[in-house]
Amino acid sequence: MKICFVLGTRPEIIKLYSLIKYCESKKIKYFIIHTNQHYDKNMDGVFFKELGLKKAKYNLGIGSGSQGDQTGRMLIEIEKVLMKERPDYVFVQGDTNTVLSGALASSKIKIKVCHVEAGLRSYDREMPEEINRIIADHVSDYLFCPTKKQADISLKEGISKEKIFVTGNTIVDAVLLVGKMSDKKSNVLNKFNLEKSKYFLLTCHRPSNTDDKSNFESIISSINDICEKEGVKCIFPMHPRLNNKKSFVNKFKNIIITDPLGYLDLLKLQKDSKMIFTDSGGIQEESCILKKKCVILRVNTERPETVRVGGAVLLREISTKDIFKKYVLLKNKKVKWYNPFGDGKTAVKIFKILNKN
Ligand code: UD1
Ligand code: UDP
Repeated sequence: MKICFVLGTRPEIIKLYSLIKYCESKKIKYFIIHTNQHYDKNMDGVFFKELGLKKAKYNLGIGSGSQGDQTGRMLIEIEKVLMKERPDYVFVQGDTNTVLSGALASSKIKIKVCHVEAGLRSYDREMPEEINRIIADHVSDYLFCPTKKQADISLKEGISKEKIFVTGNTIVDAVLLVGKMSDKKSNVLNKFNLEKSKYFLLTCHRPSNTDDKSNFESIISSINDICEKEGVKCIFPMHPRLNNKKSFVNKFKNIIITDPLGYLDLLKLQKDSKMIFTDSGGIQEESCILKKKCVILRVNTERPETVRVGGAVLLREISTKDIFKKYVLLKNKKVKWYNPFGDGKTAVKIFKILNKN
């Protein structure tokens, strides 16, 4: 069996980690194609280093671009590598442009596509990710769905039952594998002068929040006000998409900005925070796994499980009023925590399925 992992962004490295490690432990032949959709050291290299991953065999150097430009260039370059290497399976994870290109390139030259985290739907086609998910799922040969809900969605869309498997989400594998290391090694609280349970964590990178001036200002000013009322600070590791907004955010005295952080620090920050504010998909899942309350800075989500658990709330609108309202609601809520995303053995389950087939 020869496997190819196509990855390109921060969450894909984290969520393919346990599968890559599984290949190493079982001596399964594999190689990585890195599109370099993310390329800054703190969006890319830091994760390879912290997770002990070998360098990608192919770095495509695609970088940033418009939706079509970035996706198109990836498609061309991924196909070239796949024609040369002819792996048996290509793994893609999630919903980025890297996923769309990897899935399309492989399916067109009849290499089996394995989609990890398949079947998610926000039903919001304004998001590029929703288009990527739908196409990736429909050209995939194996849909590895985190929960039964995504398997049902895939079935309803007419995808054949034989291709659909419920495996849990590899994010649980990552949190369990890296969590202890993070506790031991991360010094992030000291570094930013933070005290356990006395700070908030904010991350925000969705175009609907970052590129809409009014939405972004509502998010920052409301969280700053909540900090003021609670007498705490909020740490905000800023995605590079927000580089031109640093001076604006700096005006809010309760928000501590920093460049993107490594995974050990981010897990530690989540674990010890008072509450999390985020529009990140991965952090929605991690906060639930870590039993941390989370205000989702979106009006919809493809991950409704965390809301169902009760530990997360969605907004009705991106406004200061609603963010404050949802914060208070969640703060006063008693949550019966459980983890809907699996037991941390998703990589093992996925390879069991491939071996059987
Ligand atoms: C992408 C994914 C999104 C995912 C996110 C994870 C798509 C359509 N979007 O969004 O689903 O949640 O990754 O973080 O695939 N930039 C840098 N350095 C980098 C990377 C990006 O400066 O290393 C800046 C560039 O200005 C770039 C912008 O960030 O134009 C956006 O990057 P891009 O990869 O297009 O989208 P993300 O917002 O990162
Ligand atoms: N993350 C990180 N450092 C940061 C921000 C996020 O290590 O500064 C991790 C986070 O813990 C999660 C993943 O990156 O595992 C989420 O990535 P992101 O929010 O960029 O993408 P999404 O999950 O929304 O696609």
